Amino acid sequence: MSIPSVKLNSGLDMPVVGYGTYPLKGRRATDAILAAIGSGYRLIDTAASYDNEDAVGAAVRESGLPRAELFVTTKLRGSDQGRGSTRAGLERSLERLGLEYVDLYLIHWPLPAVGRYVESYAEMAELRREGLIRSLGVSNFLPEHLDAVVAETGIQPAVDQLQVSPSHPRPELVAAVQRTGTVVQAWSPLERNTGILDHPSVTAIAGRLGVTSAQIVLRWLLQRDVTVVPHSGSPDRQRTNADLFGFELTAGGMAAIDALDTGVPVKQDPRTWEEF
Ligand SMILES: NC(=O)c1ccc[n+]([C@@H]2O[C@H](COP(=O)([O-])OP(=O)(O)OC[C@H]3O[C@@H](n4cnc5c(N)ncnc54)[C@H](OP(=O)(O)O)[C@@H]3O)[C@@H](O)[C@H]2O)c1
Repeated sequence: MSIPSVKLNSGLDMPVVGYGTYPLKGRRATDAILAAIGSGYRLIDTAASYDNEDAVGAAVRESGLPRAELFVTTKLRGSDQGRGSTRAGLERSLERLGLEYVDLYLIHWPLPAVGRYVESYAEMAELRREGLIRSLGVSNFLPEHLDAVVAETGIQPAVDQLQVSPSHPRPELVAAVQRTGTVVQAWSPLERNTGILDHPSVTAIAGRLGVTSAQIVLRWLLQRDVTVVPHSGSPDRQRTNADLFGFELTAGGMAAIDALDTGVPVKQDPRTWEEF
């Protein structure tokens, strides 16, 4: 299975479907990532705070694929934000991964009360010039946070990884980020299977198209030009979750999923959410 890519503002091609590795660790993580690579995934999404970068690195090596064929994303944890500590945080991640560079490095959360995300991004720009990072990115950044890093560095983030799913489609936020040329990547796109996959609107479309509910939700995101990093520990579900290019939602199907918006704000509000 071949997964299409989108061109980032860094010039790099990023697969529109990636494999989310949270919460797996150790050998289980390595085996799951190897299965995902076997199904065609080429983007692996990890983070310093997931405590599994070593397992990701092992999978990259054991896959036998040339490094250039894989797209590895990791994230700067909150406790490493700041001048000097951003460099140290990335160097520790690269050491755990056993890699010379990452394709995409994200600031995991803006932590505005800490007030260090702008200087962290400026240091990431230096690390990119040194070749340790191929594309600069952010996660959970609202337009005000994006504006602040661009004002300081003149470099628009290539990617903003955001919580986007049927219960929280966040149309205004997604459109505002997309207008800047930053690619939106959805985390928890399946809402961790907490009910949305059983919603009658989703199962009805899935039944009509002969695919799974997860495929409907992921395809709905792709048709909004939102890229995705679903997680599954199951090789079968990994395979179907990436098999999104042989069917299409109609305008009516898109509207039916849009209508699942709860209108309830996300719990992890980037203006106040803190994790380190
Ligand atoms: N930037 C951030 O702040 C942030 C925050 C959270 C997550 N992330 C990233 O986003 C990735 C994805 O998010 P997530 O793992 O929270 O949630 P998710 O991908 O929405 O859901 C994962 C859950 O859904 C189940 N699942 C997967 N495919 C399924 C299918 N086809 N049918 C039924 N159930 C299915 C999985 O169970 P099985 O394993 O049993 O299939 C797992 O319990 C993470 O792994 C992580 O890399 C980033």
